[in-house]
Amino acid sequence: MEKQNVHYRDLGLSNTKEMFSKAMAGKYAIPAYNFNNLEQLQAIVTACVETNSPVIIQVSKGARSYANETMLRCMAMGAVQMAREAGSNIPICLHLDHGDTFELCKSCVDSGFSSVMIDGSHLPFEENVALAKKVAEYAHQFDVSVEAELGVLAGIEDEVSAEHSTYTKPEEVEEFVKKTGVDSLAISIGTSHGAFKFKAGQPVPPLRFDILEECEKRIPGFPIVLHGASSVVQEYVALINQYGGNLAGAVGIPEDQLRRAAASAVCKINIDSDGRLAVTAKIREYFAKDPKEFDPRKYLGEARKELVKLVKHKNETVLGSAGKA
Ligand code: G3H
Ligand code: 13P
Ligand code: ZN
Repeated sequence: MEKQNVHYRDLGLSNTKEMFSKAMAGKYAIPAYNFNNLEQLQAIVTACVETNSPVIIQVSKGARSYANETMLRCMAMGAVQMAREAGSNIPICLHLDHGDTFELCKSCVDSGFSSVMIDGSHLPFEENVALAKKVAEYAHQFDVSVEAELGVLAGIEDEVSAEHSTYTKPEEVEEFVKKTGVDSLAISIGTSHGAFKFKAGQPVPPLRFDILEECEKRIPGFPIVLHGASSVVQEYVALINQYGGNLAGAVGIPEDQLRRAAASAVCKINIDSDGRLAVTAKIREYFAKDPKEFDPRKYLGEARKELVKLVKHKNETVLGSAGKA
């Protein structure tokens, strides 16, 4: 059987256009939560319905192949149906996180994604421009939104890994946005991917809001994206370490910094690690307390419940997206 081309509107999904213009005007950010499996997606949808928040559900290249392309599309459609049957009309966007090739972005556009990221941040400027432009030209034929990135975040992203971050150069953003025609731009201002963002025991260096402000000045009203924005919830780190894990020294972005970013031109905030920590903490705790249990619904159910709590907390008290759907 051949793979079918599907348009995102037929799955009930939304692109980021209206989400971002409202977030910009309302001075909040749209949450972009990564997921790989059913329980994570159920938790994200439940929490966003309960908080009446617009949401971007996003998958990396690795997550997409883990879940299976076709299954993933059906899951996204299921997420929309689940929200509607709960009486909610929240907009849901399915986004490719850190796409690394035109072909991958095209494949996502063709299979029902409503937004894609083309991450050419590791390429020389002109190559990044050419790649982002090519993706935008293709995706826009189908009204699919495109995110690109300037500047490099430290940490590991699917295929790309960088030891040190390179801050975004504000003097490049205007030309980049004009030449590529993309819809949003991820910038590097001191966040990084993963659970070890800063050295433990040392003061956390503040994000470079000066760079963000410089970018805003040069592309006023243009949606900016913040990656690597987990706060690395210490309660989960402690539970993981208490029940046999070893995440000593895991540190993230303080929530007050994220609140400040959400009130600026940052319209999308990416959170993956915090969700992973919540799930792992609860599963470890469950196994330690009940070593006889082997029904996955029991321990995955506990993990899912905790993830609902985490997402509600982020929407309500950090990103400000609650009540904005
Ligand atoms: O930025 C990367 C995301 O956290 C996805 O991570 O490539 O391990 O799925 P992954
Ligand atoms: P965290 O690792 O901080 O959750 O960042 C996730 C991210 O940026 C996904 O693209
Ligand atoms: Zn990222």
